[in-house]
Amino acid sequence: SAGVLFVHVLEREHFKGEFPPLSQTWSVSVNDPITFNTNLMGYPDRPGWLRYIQRTSHSDGVLYGSPTAEHVGKATIIEITAYNRRTFETARHNLVINIMSTEDYPLPYQAEFFIKNMNVEEMLASEVLGDFLGAVKNVWQPERLNAINITSALDRGGRVPLPINNLKEGVYVMVGADVQFSSCLREVENPHNQLRCSQEMEPVISCDKKFRAQFDIDWCKINLVDITKVVTIHSNRPDPGTGVLPDIGEYNPPSEFLKSRDFFADFLITLAVPSAVAMVLFTILGYSMCCRREGVIQLVHHSSIQKSTKELRSMSKNREISWPLSTLPVFSQSGEVVPPIHPDNYETTSMPLQTHMQGHKHIEEQMHTISFLLAPCLSLFLIIYLSFSLLWQAAM
Ligand SMILES: *[C@@H]1O[C@H](CO)[C@@H](O)[C@H](O)[C@H]1NC(C)=O
Repeated sequence: SAGVLFVHVLEREHFKGEFPPLSQTWSVSVNDPITFNTNLMGYPDRPGWLRYIQRTSHSDGVLYGSPTAEHVGKATIIEITAYNRRTFETARHNLVINIMSTEDYPLPYQAEFFIKNMNVEEMLASEVLGDFLGAVKNVWQPERLNAINITSALDRGGRVPLPINNLKEGVYVMVGADVQFSSCLREVENPHNQLRCSQEMEPVISCDKKFRAQFDIDWCKINLVDITKVVTIHSNRPDPGTGVLPDIGEYNPPSEFLKSRDFFADFLITLAVPSAVAMVLFTILGYSMCCRREGVIQLVHHSSIQKSTKELRSMSKNREISWPLSTLPVFSQSGEVVPPIHPDNYETTSMPLQTHMQGHKHIEEQMHTISFLLAPCLSLFLIIYLSFSLLWQAAM
């Protein structure tokens, strides 16, 4: 029935017959571990209102939950697959649930109890739930009383208890009735008990002894709801929808085969062109240095500078040579070489470099200008070229 707690136990004994014993020597009573998988037929999971718990593979599984009025009339087929964890055999049963509407739904007065010394599957056992409902009936005295919902405290932010003293997770049980809450259920609302609750002390409840033997109730957490008076607060939350994504067509992943990239242009720009330019420049420079007259003169000039340097060094060692050759007057007005003052010294040392230079001074100056201009221009060109090709690479 809609609005009433539904409980269905998946008994291991019932499914055991589905799994034949492995051999004749194994008795049928072998305690095989069995687990269950439950889902709405054609879907991977259960409907939202239906929950499932199985503590261990040696205990029964339980399906439970409370359907609401909106589920009425929908055929609900639950596929139950049992797995034998020893033989890895499976068996499947279908469970058909017909949800009916009830005239007395909803029960207007709803009270939620928090029971500290129970786990949810213990509470779901019909005799335990019956005992609890009996105790509630005793203190409330309604005409009709139903369990509406059961929730493990773990689903409400509770913590898994330490494995000591047989501590339990705790369970919330919602019951509904057709008469006003009894004075006993309202006792927790008086100022004295509210103060004790705020100081985390147990409130004094006169009817607690009716539960105490079996159920340890946290009276501070009792929640009394009169749904005839509840003002439905219109929430701004968007409609959660059916939970099924709309069909947005086929997904087309990008191609597995990426287009191969052509590096030939990169190679040309970064390596071949600079090498070609360098070769051209090398040829031009080599030709002008070795094969042209001006280049040869410059090379000779370079070696005569070396010779003069040597001469200066030897002079500084031997101070007796009073006149270094390089200080001799080079050209007379007519451009003739003036005979040296110390001809003996002149013969022992190298030829004065000035003799080679006669008549070539203007060519040498030209060569200097050309090489002094050429070198910075070339390096500037190379630097600009390299930075542009690097920028181009980065942009790619
Ligand atoms: C039962 O409790 C669960 C968990 O707290 C909740 O999601 C569900 O809406 C409740 N059902 C009803 C009918 O109150």
